[in-house]
Amino acid sequence: MKKVYLETFGCQMNVSDSERVATRLVADGFEITPHEAAADVVLINTCSVREKAEHKLYTRVGQIRNSEREKRGDEQIVGVLGCVAQLEGETLFEGKNEIDFVLGTKAVGRVSEAIENVFAGQKRYFDLGDREDNYDWSVSEVQRHLPYVAFVPIIEGCNKFCTYCIVPFSRGREKSLPASEIIRQVLNLRRQGVKEVHLIGQNVNSYRPKIDNGLEDFHGATAFSRLLRAVAATGIERIKFNTSFPRDFHPDIVDAINENKNLCNWVHLPVQSGSNDILRAMRRGHTIESYLQKIDKIKSSPRKLSLTTDVIIGFPDETDKDFQDTLKMADYCKFDSAYIFKYSPRPGTPAYSMIDNVSAEVKTDRFLEFEKLIRFNQRAVFRSYLDKTVEVLVEKISNKNSMELSGHTTCQKVVNFKGSSELLGKIVKVKISEAKTNTLYGEICCNL
Ligand code: 5AD
Ligand code: SF4
Repeated sequence: MKKVYLETFGCQMNVSDSERVATRLVADGFEITPHEAAADVVLINTCSVREKAEHKLYTRVGQIRNSEREKRGDEQIVGVLGCVAQLEGETLFEGKNEIDFVLGTKAVGRVSEAIENVFAGQKRYFDLGDREDNYDWSVSEVQRHLPYVAFVPIIEGCNKFCTYCIVPFSRGREKSLPASEIIRQVLNLRRQGVKEVHLIGQNVNSYRPKIDNGLEDFHGATAFSRLLRAVAATGIERIKFNTSFPRDFHPDIVDAINENKNLCNWVHLPVQSGSNDILRAMRRGHTIESYLQKIDKIKSSPRKLSLTTDVIIGFPDETDKDFQDTLKMADYCKFDSAYIFKYSPRPGTPAYSMIDNVSAEVKTDRFLEFEKLIRFNQRAVFRSYLDKTVEVLVEKISNKNSMELSGHTTCQKVVNFKGSSELLGKIVKVKISEAKTNTLYGEICCNL
């Protein structure tokens, strides 16, 4: 049996793709190994959203080709999957470190075929083709990244073409999965004991299926809010969704959350900048005023929804005034946390032809100042949980301390606490006693 080691970089969609790649490989008679040195095949599922992410591929291939094993002449097959594979295609074969095959973002269903072809002696094998009609979106239980949490893609690709973003090029146009298929998957997962599903996609709330059978019994202003109500009706304990696109964030999404306890207390709504000039140059399709209206609706929920965002610092022509507007926006929104990125020019995107004229030094200064503000608010939010009791889905034994369990709240905070592994997969009450930057700590309450 040939052994495959699979390594994943990037977003949840990549994690989800890797789960299906592993599912496919096992179904076709391969073995997935956690030991790189023992593998006949190393697969790297890549990300290209920023230059640094893309670079990881080249570093990793270099390491593999210089490993002790390779020096002994025992070569491994290296296959590149994901966004870099889709964008670079055949040119990946030109590097000094040999890559055996390249599989684009929609070709992952044919991974076994690719490996077989390389084993059969085919050189420089690549497949950037479309998804097969009968592509299987399900994941076998053993290949899920966590036993009790499952990712369910509801829409792939992106039609938005924000000027900085490579995603529309690496993942193609938006395509929504049929609602009936999503609901069938969630019901299946529930039967398997999954407690939390994440409906995922580059822009989940742009969900627009061609056939929306399965949603007729549910009300809602958009197909996405109807889908949320339909998934809530499956009775699965927790539903989260990620990522939302501000322009398509209809207030009815918040109404759906308010109506259904199993729709979790968390919205991730990337703002990218607090300046209308920059938002226009980014072609985001929202203004800061329209974004703040959505925030007001989210904050008006009696459920106290947690709010997270993404921000890009140092987009071309970002002035000090633009940056001050970003600070002002964050001060108003009081995010629970934020992913902050320095602008990274991506070849092939519209912004690549703009001059990257905010110096590295200014980017760093603004990054640190913005991070300080975000951390200040994050600290206040995390401290507000002290002495409060929260419900935690126990997902795993903590990576850092084998005596501790780790899980998430409905509002997507990580909570660690002492407890036995029998609690894995249960939703338990934990009283918070300590708040660190990104993690809450507490003690489990006796009256479960
Ligand atoms: N440079 C920096 N950050 C980027 N992102 C996307 N493209 C770029 C880029 N070229 C960030 C955005 C997006 C997140 C996933 O990555 O903030 O929301
Ligand atoms: Fe990129 Fe914009 Fe699409 Fe998000 S919505 S993936 S930022 S192009």
